[in-house]
Amino acid sequence: MTRHLLSLNDLTTREIVRMLDRAIELKKMLSRGELYEPMRNGALAMIFEKSSTRTRVSFEVAAIQFGGNAIFIAPGDSHVGRGEPLADTARVLSSMTRAIVMRTHSHERVSELARHSRVPVINGLSDRFHPCQLLADLLTWVEHRGSVSGINVAWVGDGNNMCHSWANASKLLDFNLRIATPAGYEPDGDIVADDRGRITLVNDPRAAVDGADLVVTDTWASMGQEEEKQARVEAFAGFTVDDALMRTAHSDALFMHCLPAYRGYEVTAEVIDGPRSVVFDQAENRLHAQKALLEFLLRENGR
Ligand code: CP
Ligand code: NVA
Repeated sequence: MTRHLLSLNDLTTREIVRMLDRAIELKKMLSRGELYEPMRNGALAMIFEKSSTRTRVSFEVAAIQFGGNAIFIAPGDSHVGRGEPLADTARVLSSMTRAIVMRTHSHERVSELARHSRVPVINGLSDRFHPCQLLADLLTWVEHRGSVSGINVAWVGDGNNMCHSWANASKLLDFNLRIATPAGYEPDGDIVADDRGRITLVNDPRAAVDGADLVVTDTWASMGQEEEKQARVEAFAGFTVDDALMRTAHSDALFMHCLPAYRGYEVTAEVIDGPRSVVFDQAENRLHAQKALLEFLLRENGR
């Protein structure tokens, strides 16, 4: 059975912890200028049906640094956007590449690709999950503060794909997650259902952030929700992460955002450009975490 990464739930706790350790090691090797090419002459296929800066660049650079190459496949200039069955695309790409990254609207599409692929498929963001971002975020926490076990994380904003991935991480790595959303924007009930009581849902950002070790937010209008933007700006009034809200967190609290960020909406410039913010460490860590992920999946699948 080919192993894929469609959500963090495709990994065990132990595998995630080891992957983060390995990412730190790979980061050190890179800074020492050590050549390490486990993908030599190998190709990484990258199907992107939505925009991207960080995910695309970090996977392309990861493939280059691993001695291979990344092939960007946009729907408009391939048959992916012309109705060729994903099953056929999966078979073709599996015969020539070592792994496939896919960013798409519906999670069902990336799952469908994985069902027909002989090489690992990595979810580079779907409407439900963004697991690669979480690996980078966890790595960033570990570098700044150590273990995530038992910490209090506050999610403020939309119950979206990033929120869902934080919920997965909370269960796998055993930390508390308080999620504050406006009524009607809560995360999927199945994803946050947690019989060990780690995940709490509230509608008041202060109730989530009070005493938190880490405060996380994301855009109020994700890709594909552009037409809802104005309605969302109104619905999310009072959910901006600003200095006053951050003051209610633990005095040592960090701030995270997966980027791209919209200053003045989900977060103020003072917070995202301020001393508690680690957003650019998160962005850089996409590269190191995904190199560890690629190495793991290639090895697990004997490639
Ligand atoms: N955080 C993130 O996934 O960024 P991109 O949309 O730029 O890839
Ligand atoms: N929730 C955002 C994340 C972007 C990286 C989106 O899906 O657009």
